[in-house]
Amino acid sequence: MTKSGAQAGKPAESVAGTPEGLTPDVIERFRQQIYRYFQEQGRQLPWRQTYDPYSILVSEIMLQQTQVERVLLKYGPFLARFPDFASLARAPLREVMAAWQGLGYNRRALALQRLAGRVISEFDGRLSPSVEVLRTLPGIGPATAGALAAFAFSQPVVFIETNIRRVFIHCFFADRSEVRDQEILPLLALTLDRERPRPWYYALMDYGAGLKRLGPNANRRSAHYQRQSPFADSDRQIRGLILQALVKTPALTDAELLRLVGRDPARTQPIIAALIREGFLERVGAHLRIAAGPSS
Ligand code: ADE
Repeated sequence: MTKSGAQAGKPAESVAGTPEGLTPDVIERFRQQIYRYFQEQGRQLPWRQTYDPYSILVSEIMLQQTQVERVLLKYGPFLARFPDFASLARAPLREVMAAWQGLGYNRRALALQRLAGRVISEFDGRLSPSVEVLRTLPGIGPATAGALAAFAFSQPVVFIETNIRRVFIHCFFADRSEVRDQEILPLLALTLDRERPRPWYYALMDYGAGLKRLGPNANRRSAHYQRQSPFADSDRQIRGLILQALVKTPALTDAELLRLVGRDPARTQPIIAALIREGFLERVGAHLRIAAGPSS
């Protein structure tokens, strides 16, 4: 417990999750509770100290499926190696994959590099502040587009992601299950601090992260809740092993790669074929390697 008792576990109110329940008074108290927690326990994260759209984009893509602690280890080195859209767009894909090792879900790295190429070739090197335009770029869904608009361009947009969802289900849908995002979005719009969307969303995310540590996870009561499938012995793990081997050794025959991966070849070969189709890998003579990059 902190001095003033700001604690993520304490439900704000016992009000029904409907716009009618959100009177000005309820909204005010909810905001105060979220901001008080942020003041006392909010996180100082490197991507919150910048307005550079590229740096914020990199953080949001990394944070899509990877925990903050792990992103903290990789974020600085990634930006040091690829400080802007131009350097990322022209880099060999193998170097991008090397910098991504440890974050998982490698498709994000490929999409991020393709996105950088589009920003250079179509947008004169500048990320658009428009949510609609952002949504057309590789790897950017509604949550990431909203986060970029709020964090890089200080726009009072309404968006929902996992920590934000947890806050609203916890605070406003205490007795409900199967809560739909469509039910939460009007409440997000009503409570949004339109003057200061950036700190408001940081505060909501931190409150949601605090709730997770206290459990039980309110997001289990979301209609959209999906557990992450186990990593051990998954195709995802084999994909990671293949890319890891080719990050380390630039060119390998199929036999060499299969031996390094050490899994059933009948299972591994189709995964290699998929990685070629997706643009991760290419064949050069008898060798497999990570695709040369954007200009290949
Ligand atoms: N700060 C800014 N964006 C964030 C995110 N997606 N998750 C956690 N903290 C963040």
